[in-house]
Formats: sequence, structure tokens, C-alpha cells
Amino acid sequence: MNPRYRKPMIAGNWKMNMLASELKAYADALKPASVPAKWCETLLCVPAPLVPGAARAFKSCRVAVGGQNLSEYASGAYTGEISGPMLRDAGAEYVIVGHSERRAMFGETDEEVNRKVKAALDCGLKPVICVGETRAQKMLGVTAELVTLQLRAAVSGLTVREAKQLVVAYEPVWAIGTGMSSTPEEVEQVASVLRAVIRRTYGAAVARGTRILYGGSMNEKNASELLAQPDIDGGLVGGASLHPDKFAQIIAAARGE
Ligand code: PGA
Repeated sequence: MNPRYRKPMIAGNWKMNMLASELKAYADALKPASVPAKWCETLLCVPAPLVPGAARAFKSCRVAVGGQNLSEYASGAYTGEISGPMLRDAGAEYVIVGHSERRAMFGETDEEVNRKVKAALDCGLKPVICVGETRAQKMLGVTAELVTLQLRAAVSGLTVREAKQLVVAYEPVWAIGTGMSSTPEEVEQVASVLRAVIRRTYGAAVARGTRILYGGSMNEKNASELLAQPDIDGGLVGGASLHPDKFAQIIAAARGE
């Protein structure tokens, strides 16, 4: 982390878990860990139906709420889809875009990710853009090239003002949900590649201010050493974010405790 330029962010991704009836207990358990927003930003990306309840429940613990996906369209005949303006209206401030589960299971392409990033920005949602390589791609040694292509495509055609809103999450696909996180050194290397992509596209000032999170089996045990890397500004936490005590410990790690 480099708190001089970037406020750390610990973001949770609940995926398709939790019910509205569980929000209050979660918020109560997290409250002691709530932090002044100036030290560390905390975010929970929840299933869309939970956004309004989560925005209410987490207000007092200074946890922002985000969606996990959005339609590339603002409205219209797209049965079953949820638009950015709907998420915003329900209380979301952020939205995950291009998570590897959506790329792998729902066929999201880099071009679609780019359209979704623009749709999010158009309605005032800040995108958390996910990139990362599969195990096979890692074995082939193409991680740097792959994440460069993914991020370049995802952020193409934005204004500098829009680019300043972005959060990037490096999530090696093989590390997600497996209990095997990448090493701090490997993560730092990829994060610096990603920061260079932002620098080449939108300039040094935007790159210096862009938060790059690590995701993939981050937990209360490995968070400190991952967050100690200069280009890792936080985490996107799946499994561990379902447990408020573990999530709270990861927040504490971001504060250097
Ligand atoms: P995990 O998930 O922490 O359970 O590995 C991370 C993610 O998919 O964002």
C-alpha cells in the first residue's frame, strides 16, 4: 500500500450468498471494526436484492455497498437484467465488473466488460474491474500479457475524469476460492504491470491514484503480507468476507494492526 497517494480499500464479494434477514447480525458483528473512512475504505458487494437493505444496515459502520454485475444497458426489454441506474437508486456506490466467474460461466468478453464499465460510470457507479489469468495461462508464462490485454480493453475510451473513478482488482483465477493465494512478490509484479497500463493510457497522475486490489483466497492470515506490497492497495475478498470476524481482521490488517 502507499497511503500517501491511495486510500486502501477492503472490498468483500459475497457472490450468491447471504439473505436480507442476515444483514443486521453481520452489521452488528462488524461495527466494532468500523474505521474512519479517511484511513481505509470498506466495501461489500452484495447480491442485487440485498443492496437496499445492506445500504441501510451498513451505513452506521461506514461500509459502502456495491453490486456484483450490471447490464450494459440503462433500461429496456432485457428480462432478468439489472441496470446500473437501478443499483445506484438502490444505494450502491460501486459495482464489480468482469469478475472471472462472469467471464467463465456467463461468457463475458473484454468488449462487454468495457461497455459495462462505461455503463457504470454513466450512472455514477464506480467500477471495480477484475482481471486475472487461469492456471494454464500462468503455466504458459503469459500472465503479464494477458492482464495487460484485459485491462487495456476494459478501460478503453474513457475520459481522464472517468478513469480516476476506477478500481482494479487482480484476481488470478486459480487462486479464487481455492485457499491458494498468489505470493506477495508475484502479486506485486502483476500489480505494477497493471499500474503501467493505466499510466500509459491515462497518465502518471491517474496511475498514481488508482487503487489496485488483490483477490484470490485473501484471508485474515495472509492479508498483512499481501497488503505490505507497495502496489497492492487493498483486497477483494470472497469467502472470508462472509464471516464478519474474518473480514474485520482483514480491515485491521489494512490499517497496519
Ligand atoms: P475468494 O474469492 O476470496 O473466495 O478466493 C475472491 C473473489 O472471487 O473475488
